[in-house]
Formats: sequence, structure tokens, C-alpha cells
Amino acid sequence: MKRFYIETFGCQMNVHDSEKVIGTLEQRGYVQVHTPEKADLVLYNTCSIRDKAEQKVFQRLSENRNAKGKVFGVLGCVAQQEGERIFERAPHVRLVVGSASYPRLGELLVQIEQGGDRVAGLSLDTEATFETPVTRRDNPYRAYITIIEGCDKDCAYCVVPYTRGRERSRRWESVLEEARTLAGMGYTEIQLLGQNVNSYRDPGDPSRTFAPLLEAVAQTPGVRRVRFTTSHPQDFGRDIVEVIDRNENVCNMVHLPVQSGSTRVLEAMQRQYTRDDYMRRIEWLKASPRDISLSTDIIVGFPGETEEDFEQTLRLLEEVEYDQVFSFKYSVRPNTPAEQMGNHIPEQEKSRRLAVLQEKQRGIQLRRNTAMIGRVLEVLVEGYNSGTGQWIGRTAQNRVLNFVAQPRVDGSVPAKEELYGRYLPVRVTRAGPNSLAGDCAIAV
Ligand code: 5AD
Ligand code: SF4
Repeated sequence: MKRFYIETFGCQMNVHDSEKVIGTLEQRGYVQVHTPEKADLVLYNTCSIRDKAEQKVFQRLSENRNAKGKVFGVLGCVAQQEGERIFERAPHVRLVVGSASYPRLGELLVQIEQGGDRVAGLSLDTEATFETPVTRRDNPYRAYITIIEGCDKDCAYCVVPYTRGRERSRRWESVLEEARTLAGMGYTEIQLLGQNVNSYRDPGDPSRTFAPLLEAVAQTPGVRRVRFTTSHPQDFGRDIVEVIDRNENVCNMVHLPVQSGSTRVLEAMQRQYTRDDYMRRIEWLKASPRDISLSTDIIVGFPGETEEDFEQTLRLLEEVEYDQVFSFKYSVRPNTPAEQMGNHIPEQEKSRRLAVLQEKQRGIQLRRNTAMIGRVLEVLVEGYNSGTGQWIGRTAQNRVLNFVAQPRVDGSVPAKEELYGRYLPVRVTRAGPNSLAGDCAIAV
């Protein structure tokens, strides 16, 4: 039993957890395969943020409930939330592990290898973060580094505090050592990850907070771009904006989830800030000499949300002018405070609000993207689309900018290896609500 298949659902934390799980498995002699049919061990790293995400894994498990001779395992947030109930619901599952128990993954695998059934790692009571000697990264230029795990907030709608446990920061030195190692390996872009990166504190020296860590990572030789996600407005300090101002290679983009534009709803959500508190942070960001791109998350149809509350959210979109908005219909999650609230909004009304909001944001993005036409932006080249003959680049603001390279004097076109991983200036010539296109501004 040495071939494994893993499918990942959910956020970047999950994607990166899977990279670490893959590293752990490979160290134990397992080989990754890319279809479940070829595997002896089939793993799903799951998400339970909304009901739909959670249903996906049960659908997968029911699709292959008759597969013989394979070990099935459920990892991540659904594993933590549903625990041993998964063994009842899907009796062919033999392994259930929540993310707080990944440091014990090797030991749990030994139990499976020895024929163990119903092996579970579900304790949330841990101080440990998941550190692996080997992490199997997929993208050759961009690497994730976890700086903090878990979440100590208690937003009324959210399962994360129950699925990922209490907040725990990684040691400052361990983060910087990983950044240096990655830069040495040729990774030029680093993304710092955590459910709430802003509340980072070095466990050895609590005076070392997120802003100085961000700056230290940015000053690591070889690092061309640093991003971070995700931020909580309450802990988002002005010192972070100052670090962006001082360090060209800290990407000029901030994802700052607002969830609602109504203070009344924010209070019901237990978000710990008002609309005005949030807007103050937006003002700091807009006052930066750098052109900082803003993105956010919004939930429509939280219990009790009135038409007037919803309109305040629409007005907030107009005021802030985000470049990207991830918007969701409120989904009831088990055991969260909001589950017990009255005044749940009918599904149809939630859908209507979502459509109105997305239409409004589409207009804002089209306007903002159109204003980019004529500007030259630096992209990291990460792909080629042979169908359209365009290279795929990503800007510092994390927008996809597809571009054509100028033909060479001898008529030849660059080979993929020549451009992949390079940073090139691209002039924007066209814009849609979700993408930009342009021409490379130099001969390559
Ligand atoms: N229903 C809908 N959206 C949710 N999110 C978190 N919990 C829920 C829920 N119960 C959204 C929030 C969060 C993003 C990752 O998912 O907007 O920022
Ligand atoms: Fe999904 Fe949240 Fe878990 Fe990420 S932390 S996988 S978004 S439930």
C-alpha cells in the first residue's frame, strides 16, 4: 500500500496543508498518483465553511463506496467537525484527521499500515503547528509559508474556530529560516498564510508581531514579492500599511474581509468592529503613496439582515471600490451561535441579494480595470495558452494579465522555459470585469 491520491477542497491554508501532507507521505515512501483508481490510499482534504463545500466530500465518498482494497481517509475541516460520525456515515473510511492533529500524521499512518480501522486524530488541544522536514510545493515560483494556525475570534457564522482550534503562532526564526531556504531554492514569491495573520506573535518574544515579521520576510535576499492572507480588520494595524509603504516588494494589495457594510449586522456577526472602524482602515490604505489594491469577503442574508442593511453593504462597495469581492450567501453551520438566531432569510431572497451585489461589483471592476489601460505592469510569467497564443502573467496586485510577446527579428517565438518564472513589463491594452490583456513592453 504505497500509492496515494489526494484531492483538496477549500482555502489556501488547506492547499498548503496538503503540500505538507504530501511531503510527509513521500518521506514515508508513498508515491503520489493523479487518479483515485491508481491509488491504494485515497485522501480528501476537506472544507466545511459552507454547507455546499461540506456536501462535496460526502458526494465523493458515496461515489466510491464500493471500491475494494483501498484505504479512504478524510482530512481537514469536515474531519474535525464531523469526527467519528464519518465512520458511521461512510463505513469504508478508515482514517479521519483534523488539521490540528497533522503533527501526528506519521504515527496515525503507521496504525493504518498495521491494519488499523477507524483511526482518528481529532484532538484540538494542541500548542503545535504543523512543521514538516519536506513540503511538496506545486508552483515552482510561488511558495506558501504558514505563520499562524487556528483562530481565536468567534464570528457568529463561522466553523473555523471549531475546525482548526486555538490560535498558535510559529516561531519567528522558523518562519525566516523557511523564507531563506525557499529563496535559496529559487522561489521568488512568498505568501504568508494564516486564518488571521494580523494577530501573529512570536511565541518566544511576543513583542515581535506581524508587521515586523512581514518586513523581515521582505528583506530576505532573493524575495521579489511577498503577499499575506488573511487579515481581520480588528487586528489590522497601521504599522502594516507602513511596511507596505517602505518595502516595494511587499505586494500592493490587501484582502480585508468586511462581511457586511451595516454596523448592526457586524455586531450580530460578533465581528468586533463597526463600519466606521473598517472605513478608517480603508482610509489608511488609500492614503498610501503606493496604489494598494483592495479585496474583500461579503456574506449576504445573515439572519436578521434587512433591506436597509443590505443597501449599506452596496454603498460600502461603491465607497471602497474593491478590485475583487468574494461574496457568499449565508449558510447555517452546525454549533455556531448564528444557528440559533431568529429571522433567517429565505433562500430566494439571499440569492436575489447576491445577484444584485455581484452585478454592482461587476460594474465597479469593469470601470477600474478599464482605467488600467495604457499602464505598464510587472508580471510574473506562469503559463502559456497555446489556444490563444498568449502568455499568462500575474501582477503584484494578483490580477491575471494575459499578454503576447513581440515577435523576434528572426520570427522565432520564445520557448516556455525561457519565459516561465521571469518578471516582465506588460502594457495593458484591453480590460474586462475579471481580467486584463496586454503586450509585453520589451523584446524577449
Ligand atoms: N456562510 C457563508 N459564508 C461564510 N463564510 C464564512 N462562514 C460562512 C457561512 N457560514 C465566508 C466569509 C469568510 C469566507 C472565507 O467565507 O466571508 O471570510
Ligand atoms: Fe474551509 Fe475554513 Fe477550513 Fe479553510 S479553514 S478549509 S475555508 S472551513
